[in-house]
This record gives sequence, structure tokens and C-alpha cells, in this order.
Amino acid sequence: MEKGKFVIAKDGVDPSKVPYKTLYTGAKIPAIGLGTFGSDRYSADEVAEAVRGAISVGYRHLDCASVYGNEHKIGEVLKEVMQSGIKREELWITSKVWNDMHGEGDVLISCAKTLKDLKLDYLDLYLVHWPFPNHHPPGCSVDSRSPDAKPYIHENYMKTWRQMERLVDMGLVRHIGTSNMTIPKLKLLLRDARIKPACNEMELHPHFQQPELFKFVVDNGIVPIGYCPIGSPKRPDRDRTEQDTVDIEDPVIVKIAERHNIHPAVVCVKWAVQRRQIPIPFSVKREKYLSNLLHTTIDPLTDEEMKEIEGIDKNCRLIKGQVFLWKEGQSWEDLWDVNGEITPP
Ligand SMILES: NC(=O)c1ccc[n+]([C@@H]2O[C@H](COP(=O)([O-])OP(=O)(O)OC[C@H]3O[C@@H](n4cnc5c(N)ncnc54)[C@H](OP(=O)(O)O)[C@@H]3O)[C@@H](O)[C@H]2O)c1
Repeated sequence: MEKGKFVIAKDGVDPSKVPYKTLYTGAKIPAIGLGTFGSDRYSADEVAEAVRGAISVGYRHLDCASVYGNEHKIGEVLKEVMQSGIKREELWITSKVWNDMHGEGDVLISCAKTLKDLKLDYLDLYLVHWPFPNHHPPGCSVDSRSPDAKPYIHENYMKTWRQMERLVDMGLVRHIGTSNMTIPKLKLLLRDARIKPACNEMELHPHFQQPELFKFVVDNGIVPIGYCPIGSPKRPDRDRTEQDTVDIEDPVIVKIAERHNIHPAVVCVKWAVQRRQIPIPFSVKREKYLSNLLHTTIDPLTDEEMKEIEGIDKNCRLIKGQVFLWKEGQSWEDLWDVNGEITPP
């Protein structure tokens, strides 16, 4: 495809062949989306170009966020895509409110900015990116701590959630959801929400399957969206620890990949779709994002292969969230309520 010009690719995937999931509202969401977090590696222009290419090969679902710093560039592409004849209702666009915009009135401001940047008049899904209202500069070290960091306080989260609900009332967003939540936090939200979350975005890959949270979410009619579905092999060094394992080097994944003649990354994506979570793999490289999409429509993993992958969970969380810790002497596990209760302030 000529750079900077949108045309439907001849070697792409028919979007109607891509699996989808149905939310509690009856809305259908494509069962794979394109991640758009370029991190330190890819500029806003490169990510926007990937969005153009991804839609041209058949993607209809994008996972955006204001903090990724590229929505203004993605918006230019979306405008062009829709001018080319793709209808707004054929696309599924998610975005997220960042942690420094949880305050009274801020959620509407943040959503309005995202809509302006993306050149849309509504979002399909708007998520609270993290349950902690803490600002930290993009790209900061995992050891950096904000002096203003705050723990999870349910009353405050509900003030944010009420603003999310208001966005639905106003018609600016069709669904609202959560991200980086835990079971005890979700229990409180489900108790108190007027409009319940349609999706929960959570880290999910073969080495981090989160079976309990996954089951809780599904049992409550919430669709899980899995981030870092390939185990984020290119994440910055600052987000790595010595204990981290590498999904795409796991012998089980490698063996299945050889059997299907695909890259181990693609096995992770196929596994995710067949497990019935929605992966949002990232790549700006055409052969990679095309392969990820194409293989959700052909040559499924067998039940035995799905079972084998279920057996390689290592409970290895990659995005630990250290920058959200709010007092001295804590460890990142405190953010994830590993004892089944919200960590006290
Ligand atoms: N809600 C949240 O808090 C949260 C947190 C993290 C991420 N996310 C979302 O999840 C998305 C995905 O996460 P991620 O980017 O960290 O991790 P990921 O999708 O697990 O991994 C992305 C990396 O995998 C490689 N890759 C992709 N497809 C491949 C293929 N077919 N063959 C070989 N390598 C392949 C790419 O390498 P190349 O760079 O070489 O192409 C890319 O850099 C993000 O973009 C973002 O939208 C959300």
C-alpha cells in the first residue's frame, strides 16, 4: 500500500470472517484488536501508519489510550478510512482515561479530548486505565515514586465511575469498562455501579493466565480483553525483572508453532482467541499484524494444544505497576490484592 493512502488490501482478511464476542448489551466486538502503545520504540506517526495498514488488511478493533500520545495521529487515519467508505459502526474503538484525570469533571474533559483527537463523535468502549489516581511521567523508571501517590479508595473510584456512567448517558461512549482491576475491587464496583463494566482489560498471556480473575470476570458477564498477549517481548528494559519468563521461547509454544508453521507469537494470539479473551497484539510491521489477524480465522489449535498451553501458566506478571505504590516498604504485589482483600491504605 502506498504510504499515507488508504485502500483495502487484496491479501487481507474479510472482517466478517474474524471471530467476535457479544457483550451484555448485545453489541458485537471483534475478538482481536490492534494494540497502539508504541512505547519508546515507535513514534505516533509509525503507529498511525500501522493503524492504516491494519484496517486495510481487515482489523476493525483498535485499543487506544490518551496516554499513548498518538490519538491525534490515529484520528487523521480514521477520518481518511471513513471517507473511503468504511462506516463508523463497522469499527470498534476503545480508549482509556489516564490516572491524572480521575477528578471531578476531568473524565468528561479527557473523553472530549480523545474524541476530538480521534475525530469521532462516540467511543465504543471507554476504560478507566488504572484504579489508582496517580500521575507519573511517561517513561519514568519503575523505582520512581510520586509524592502524591494514593492507594485505591473505593469511594473515590466510584466518583470516577459515576462520570464514566454519565458519558454513556450523554451518548459519548457506548460501553464503559475497567483495566488493571482485581477481584475484590471489581466486587465493590459491581455492587455499586449503575452501569456495569462491559469489559475488563487485564494482562493475559500463556505465562500469565490469571485463571481466578478470568473466571470471575466471565461469570459476571464481563468480557476479558487481554493485554501483552504475546508477553510483550519488546517492552523497555525498565519494565523487565530477572524473574520474568518469555512466552514465545516456551518449548510448548515453540513446538506448537512448528507444528502449525507459524511464529510462536501467533500461537499466543490464537490461544487467546480460542480461550475466549480478546487479545490486542501490537506491531507496526505488516507481516506481523496481518499474520496475527489471519490466523484467528484458520487452522485452530486442537483441544490437546489448548490443554498443553493451559499447563504452562507461570503466574508471571510483566506489568507490575511499581510506580503506583503509595508508601515506603511496599512491594508491587500490594497493588494486586494477592490475599483476596484490598490492600489497606
Ligand atoms: N490496559 C493496560 O494497562 C495496558 C498495558 C499494556 C498494554 N496494553 C495494550 O496492549 C497492547 C499490546 O501489549 P504490548 O505491546 O505490550 O505487548 P504484545 O502485544 O504482547 O507484544 C508486542 C510485541 O510483539 C511482537 N509481535 C507482534 N506480533 C508478532 C508476530 N506475529 N510475530 C513476531 N512478533 C510479533 C512485536 O514486535 P515488533 O515490535 O518487532 O513488531 C511487538 O513489539 C498495547 O499496544 C496496548 O494497546 C494495555
